[in-house]
Amino acid sequence: MSGIKIKGTGRSLPERILTNGELAQTVDTSDEWIVSRTGIRERRICTKESHTGLCAAAAQNALEHAGILPEQIGVCIVATMTPDTLVPSAACTMQKALGLSCDTVCFDLNAACTGFLYALHTAECLLAAAPKKFGLVIGADLFSRVLDWSDRSTCILFGDGAGAAVIEWRAEWPSAGAVLGCAGNSELLRCPLQNGYLTMEGQRVFKFALEAVPWCIDRVLERQGLTAEDVDFFVFHQANARIIDLAAKKYRIPPEKYCKNIERFGNTSAASIPIVLSELEETGRLSSGNRVLLVGFGGGLTWGGALVEIA
Ligand SMILES: CC(C)(COP(=O)(O)OP(=O)(O)OC[C@H]1O[C@@H](n2cnc3c(N)ncnc32)[C@H](O)[C@@H]1OP(=O)(O)O)[C@@H](O)C(=O)NCCC(=O)NCCS
Repeated sequence: MSGIKIKGTGRSLPERILTNGELAQTVDTSDEWIVSRTGIRERRICTKESHTGLCAAAAQNALEHAGILPEQIGVCIVATMTPDTLVPSAACTMQKALGLSCDTVCFDLNAACTGFLYALHTAECLLAAAPKKFGLVIGADLFSRVLDWSDRSTCILFGDGAGAAVIEWRAEWPSAGAVLGCAGNSELLRCPLQNGYLTMEGQRVFKFALEAVPWCIDRVLERQGLTAEDVDFFVFHQANARIIDLAAKKYRIPPEKYCKNIERFGNTSAASIPIVLSELEETGRLSSGNRVLLVGFGGGLTWGGALVEIA
């Protein structure tokens, strides 16, 4: 035994709401098409906010909810593929913005939409060896920076945002037992650093997700020796409402044990899982001792699942 629990969560979304109706004025699409294919009605887009600002606000929010001071944080990881700068990393920027100690391990990690799960697992491993046992895991992406706003097949799907979780590691707590996967693929989902935008083969990514999600759930349950009924809440990466609904149906997950916020935020990539967690905490839907199964998938290709307890 030895592992992590979630002490507190936070989120930060930009103010500007971009509706399907507005997008329909610039590309050949409609509110009806977007809602029926994806479940998305609107998303948030940065106009004046920065990646740094969203990360800092989400992290402050999480620290307050956790009741933890910045100097207690031993590890700070930002999962992102759209930081303000490559150097300094977003995590190094957080060291200064939040007042983390100079001995805090700070770095960014890119696993696209699966980033939060990769970062959570990495933080759990590092905290086992760290002198300070609290970790700050932030998922943040500003996909509005990398979208081709004339491509109706991608620009309708994504939104900007940041979410964060403060975790604590203890020798007597169970591991989140993350299962993570990767299959190098540069065709299905791609975002070059220069001279280009995010491109995606939507239908093939959809099929990949329909295999990845059950694979993650099955492996996590197997590793923990649990069944789906033993899980208190399922938190899915918010990429498409149909993917979430199909998973809920397959595992007979009752409506009170999972949720969708994709309608309001679209796909916020690495931020989607911690944003859901933060909304659940705020609305009192999670309580101490709850076991939450997290599932994510995305570019890379990457995928992952984990079971975390609420402290
Ligand atoms: C992107 C996605 C919503 C498209 O839905 P779909 O049902 O697969 O639609 P298709 O790509 O087959 O396109 C069907 C038609 O709609 C059109 N279309 C695409 N985007 C459109 C839009 N925004 N509005 C209207 N029509 C659109 C296509 O051009 C195509 O037209 P055609 O039949 O004349 O060629 C869906 O594939 C999806 O969600 N994939 C997963 C994406 C994902 O999760 N990515 C992130 C991973 S982290």
